[in-house]
Amino acid sequence: MTKRLFSSFALCLYYRPSGRSVTGFPVVYALFLLISVIPELYDLMGGIQDGDDLLRQDYQQMFAFFHVVLVSPIVTFLGILSVVFQAPQIRRHVGPSALSVLGLAAQAVVFALVAVSWIWRVVYALDLNPKLSSSEYLMLMGGKLFNAPITNPQKVLDLGTGTGIWAIDFADEYPEAIVIGNDLSPIQPSWLPQNCEFFIDDIEADWLEPPNTYDLIHSRNLAGCVADWPRLYRQAYEHLKPGGYFEVQESAVWAWSDDGSLKMDSPLARYLQALDDAGKKIGRELNVYKDLKRLLIDTGFEDVHERTYILPFSPWPKDPRQREIGRFQAHMVHNAVEAYGLRLCTQILGWSSDQTKILQALVRQQLKDPQMHSYTKIVVAYGRKPH
Ligand SMILES: C[S@@+](CC[C@H](N)C(=O)[O-])C[C@H]1O[C@@H](n2cnc3c(N)ncnc32)[C@H](O)[C@@H]1O
Repeated sequence: MTKRLFSSFALCLYYRPSGRSVTGFPVVYALFLLISVIPELYDLMGGIQDGDDLLRQDYQQMFAFFHVVLVSPIVTFLGILSVVFQAPQIRRHVGPSALSVLGLAAQAVVFALVAVSWIWRVVYALDLNPKLSSSEYLMLMGGKLFNAPITNPQKVLDLGTGTGIWAIDFADEYPEAIVIGNDLSPIQPSWLPQNCEFFIDDIEADWLEPPNTYDLIHSRNLAGCVADWPRLYRQAYEHLKPGGYFEVQESAVWAWSDDGSLKMDSPLARYLQALDDAGKKIGRELNVYKDLKRLLIDTGFEDVHERTYILPFSPWPKDPRQREIGRFQAHMVHNAVEAYGLRLCTQILGWSSDQTKILQALVRQQLKDPQMHSYTKIVVAYGRKPH
């Protein structure tokens, strides 16, 4: 019985309706599977260093897509065809004793499982991807766009909206709300949800909307963009409806490690110190994360809450979720190191371009060091305008 089951299972892989053996099919499929698990195998052998994880991720996604759009559907289709149409041929070819319906069904199930596993991988990649490209904030906040306890927001403002991704996500999630994003630069997309609009505006100038307009004002990652934070908070306060919330989300431009693996004289620490100095020198503090709660309270907001999130610089945490976030952050930081600090170091601190680039290269190298368990912090704070 077991023999019949296995032989039917195996035969389906090798026989086509003609009854002839077609070994190419399973071989090609096995090759695809092998190629797509190379990153995992390589990783298991300890070959992939932390900083390269994103390479692996891109690679996996590429193959995952390839599998789902091409290989899995074809293989599954052929598998099902073979089960449905081959049985009589195989029966004729090898005789009824070699066949078992269970074996054929098992093969169909395996084909289906392979397809489902790949679909799952891609859905996972897709699910992670918007969050990855959207922001580390969203990932740390478990996909939540804000922490303030608002219900039924009607009018929402996103300050310094950048690509507008937060405003667009919000508009999608709350179709009944009107969501406005403003920015100095017109870099927002033009395909938008109907309830989302973008304006070119300077949030440091006087805001033109009437007071008491918004249910929620949101500001994310604006450190270094604002010279007078108390004034910005006052304007937000004024333009919120009574009972409305101001939520601020900022990342520290600093790094920590709990096990001493980040040395203060290391390239990363020196670079972050330089950025902090440069921000202070131009009167645009980069490390505003520590002042959010105080600024809200000083402005007159009530019900002020603050939450700090740990953002690893590389995939060192044991916790799988934090590890995934660290993997994303490693990629982000690796790419952002140069753009983020070049102007600050050369134009503000007066460093030479070579000096800056050498330090940046050392920072990138250090970020790949699996022995370094560094992280930064993201602080999310909100307060309510009194009734
Ligand atoms: C680091 S990005 C953050 C974008 C967005 N808030 C996010 O988290 O995805 C900072 C944005 O603030 C914008 N910005 C800087 N100064 C501004 C100002 N005075 N008024 C409006 N936008 C400003 C920049 O153009 C940039 O798009």
